[in-house]
Amino acid sequence: MRIYKRNILITGGAGFIGSHVVRMFVNKYPEYRIINLDKLTYAGNLANLKDIENYPNYVFVKADICDYDKIQELMKEYHIDGIIHLAAESHVDRSIKDPFTFARTNVMGTLSLLQAAKLYWETLPEKYEGKRFYHISTDEVYGALEMTNPEGIEPPFSTTASSSEHHLAYGKDFFYEDTKYNPHSPYSASKASSDHFVRAYHDTYGMPTIVTNCSNNYGPYQFPEKLIPLFINNIRHRKPLPVYGKGENVRDWLYVVDHARAIDVIFHNGKIAETYNIGGFNEWKNIDIIKVLIKTVDRILGNPEGYSLDLITYVTDRLGHDMRYAIDSTKLQRELGWEPSLQFEEGIEKTVRWYLDNQEWMDNVTSGDYQRYYEEMYKGK
Ligand code: NAD
Ligand code: DAU
Repeated sequence: MRIYKRNILITGGAGFIGSHVVRMFVNKYPEYRIINLDKLTYAGNLANLKDIENYPNYVFVKADICDYDKIQELMKEYHIDGIIHLAAESHVDRSIKDPFTFARTNVMGTLSLLQAAKLYWETLPEKYEGKRFYHISTDEVYGALEMTNPEGIEPPFSTTASSSEHHLAYGKDFFYEDTKYNPHSPYSASKASSDHFVRAYHDTYGMPTIVTNCSNNYGPYQFPEKLIPLFINNIRHRKPLPVYGKGENVRDWLYVVDHARAIDVIFHNGKIAETYNIGGFNEWKNIDIIKVLIKTVDRILGNPEGYSLDLITYVTDRLGHDMRYAIDSTKLQRELGWEPSLQFEEGIEKTVRWYLDNQEWMDNVTSGDYQRYYEEMYKGK
């Protein structure tokens, strides 16, 4: 049997961000064994990893992070020495309708992973030496920032931004690593709680933990309940585009592969017990991003300019809708040398083209057919 240099458990690897992280690690580190643990909820889709599913250093395990006994077994079976924890319920609108599922997976699931890792690592002669528990969190735990500059101003940063044309800030404040937690939605409250548990395992037991808080991701393989894939698909099919409230809310967007690159750098070089913010210095009002999507899809499909603007439909606002998110990722750029590799204009063009070129993926997801993929693949195993 082959001995691997590292055995890394990635949770939620069949989801949007997780699939990019798994792909990057499996390709970049053939000397590591990557164990992708995923429950395959509605958001998990093994078709996201078709290109690497037969690689020798890749293993898929269908399991629930809340299944503490199973996680304990897996820790031992695969000699896990690193965990990159992405599995979560991730959609704010769903959390407003069904908060219990969010508390279960995001809080209890994270706790089950922490405790299983602790028990296993404490049995080893070297204990926590060379181990890592890396928890992926969100900027939403910091709450919401004010829109003090609704027209946008030049931000006070000299660090690299992921947008060339539209480098604006809509307020003077930003989320820093020491910004006080102030979550508003059941989703962000559950993520905040899981972050506290991770830090408590470091402070109480000396577990080698790291937490990162990232801004909104966009790119291929995102489930089309989230703004960007949903709107690209609706524009293509001439369906209404439901803009919450006035469309003035601001989000800070980062290309998903740049998030995966940050995770790689932080997993290997980040300091134990530290927090790193990850973001693109790339703030957009929802309505402006929606107009970019309309323009890009219409151009690629050969429609006249402005053709799909009539699809914009203002609807009732999301309950407790956070106004503005804006991450300061200076610490990560300065200390670990990470910076976004892709300008937003290039990233959005790639993303729109990917969804338009992969209509089969989109149709499988919207029809629910993707959930049969796993059953077919693992039939009889
Ligand atoms: P996603 O919803 O696309 O994927 C989540 C994955 O977790 C799915 O594959 C799902 O099957 C799996 N999962 C859910 N519950 C599980 C359980 N109980 N046991 C095992 N697997 C389970 O989410 P995403 O957008 O890829 O987000 C991944 C992580 O990154 C989350 O922790 C999220 O909070 C965080 N995050 C997301 C963003 C973003 O913009 N999408 C930004 C910052 C942080
Ligand atoms: O900031 C990081 C977070 O970004 C992650 O932690 C979450 O997992 C991820 O889902 C995302 O949360 P948002 O709520 O910001 O993403 P969403 O795509 O749902 O919405 C983006 C913005 O667009 C938000 O202001 C709500 C608005 N919106 C969204 C949808 C789905 C609409 O106006 N209409 C819509 O139909």
